[in-house]
Amino acid sequence: MNTWTNTSWRAKPIQQVPEYPDKQALEKVEDQLSGYPPLVFAGEARNLRKHLADVTEGRAFLLQGGDCAESFAEFSPDNIRDTFRVLLQMAVVLTFGAKVPIVKVGRIAGQFAKPRSAPMESLNEIELPSYRGDIINGIEFEESARVPDPERLLQAYSQAAATLNLLRAFATGGYAALDYVHQWTMGFVADSPEAERYKDVAHRISEALDFMRACGIDPASAPQLSTTELFTSHEALLLGYEQAMTRIDSTTGKWYDTSAHMLWIGDRTRHPDEAHVEFLRGVENPIGIKCGPSLDPDELIRLIDVLSPQNEPGRLTLITRFGADKVADYLPALIRKVESEGRAVVWSCDPMHGNTLKAGSGYKTRPFDRILSEVQQVFAVHQAEGTYAGGIHIEMTGQNVTECLGGAQAITEDDLSSRYHTHCDPRLNATQALELAFLLAEGINEERAEAGKVAADG
Ligand code: PEP
Ligand code: CO
Repeated sequence: MNTWTNTSWRAKPIQQVPEYPDKQALEKVEDQLSGYPPLVFAGEARNLRKHLADVTEGRAFLLQGGDCAESFAEFSPDNIRDTFRVLLQMAVVLTFGAKVPIVKVGRIAGQFAKPRSAPMESLNEIELPSYRGDIINGIEFEESARVPDPERLLQAYSQAAATLNLLRAFATGGYAALDYVHQWTMGFVADSPEAERYKDVAHRISEALDFMRACGIDPASAPQLSTTELFTSHEALLLGYEQAMTRIDSTTGKWYDTSAHMLWIGDRTRHPDEAHVEFLRGVENPIGIKCGPSLDPDELIRLIDVLSPQNEPGRLTLITRFGADKVADYLPALIRKVESEGRAVVWSCDPMHGNTLKAGSGYKTRPFDRILSEVQQVFAVHQAEGTYAGGIHIEMTGQNVTECLGGAQAITEDDLSSRYHTHCDPRLNATQALELAFLLAEGINEERAEAGKVAADG
């Protein structure tokens, strides 16, 4: 394979790339960014790789979630806080179900660039270039907004920096204390129409906390009860931005993309001979690959070979996203191939991107039941194949939006218009996200009990 440099991707075919009218202005901005401080430190990305190695080996579980697309318009401390809070609440509930540590990775502080199925978008017989995320162009359906603007890279960088700063403050400054997180969850359970269903798990968590406290394990004796660790991630789509943020780590002499701890390659850009794979093969961060129905098992092995030639656990996370109606047809073949070739990966499930549909009213939506069904089927397939279902990857927000159908609030097609705020795909709202965690925790718990029984029976 040819030598990698931070610019070697530029000589490869590339998909989903915006056409900037002023190339010089773009170069100037990229140059400027390459002199800005890194957003994350290489040592943190190495820590995440270690945690993901634990997930690969079944000793931890990955929770990755956040916006489909962060936007400049919805940038506010409350939004950041609410997303963070729901991720923590989900993590506590999942810890209870999985009985292993939860590795928390936000789709946050940099999730700005979007791949699109079509380069153009029409409305009332007018055709304009598609919106590609706030780091590239504007969502307004106007010709001027849709022109890619390099200044947006700088705005995305500063929003990512401010977001990350607040997340770091929340994670270590006391906001993330386990007791608070659990109290919020008790509030959620009390208000839920499905309260009866969630009470049991919630009360068992309360009892576990009381027991620990009685044994003298409290925030004073165990600081991990009052702080947490949240990593950041986004799709590495806009490679000029990623290149500008990629630096040689002074402690190891290796390249890291310092725009986030983890980067993933989308289902539309994961060709082994193209630019996105070329770029990511040279950075040491943990890498995700979205795996949809068009991914052939042999091609997946080629991709793994290019991106993880040392086959080190923690380097690669396969994020499968088939849809509730397809997962049983596609996932077993991928698992069998990867297993028979002895590749070490995290298997994570994205139950969002294969379950999108258009409601009668024209809104893109996703039914909660299908999202839950895809995750449940993924767990069952892994159990049947003897592999470990290591994580979930979801699009969610801490806000009370109405973008996905169903859940205990029973959001209907008519409700969608009331609080539909997403800049791209429909997200689970705070309630739906936490419900998903409760329903999965119940399932994982039962599965573990079953597995334990089988082991005890010999
Ligand atoms: C996404 O995660 O927002 C996305 C576009 O996913 P995929 O590449 O799997 O379609
Ligand atoms: Co999306």
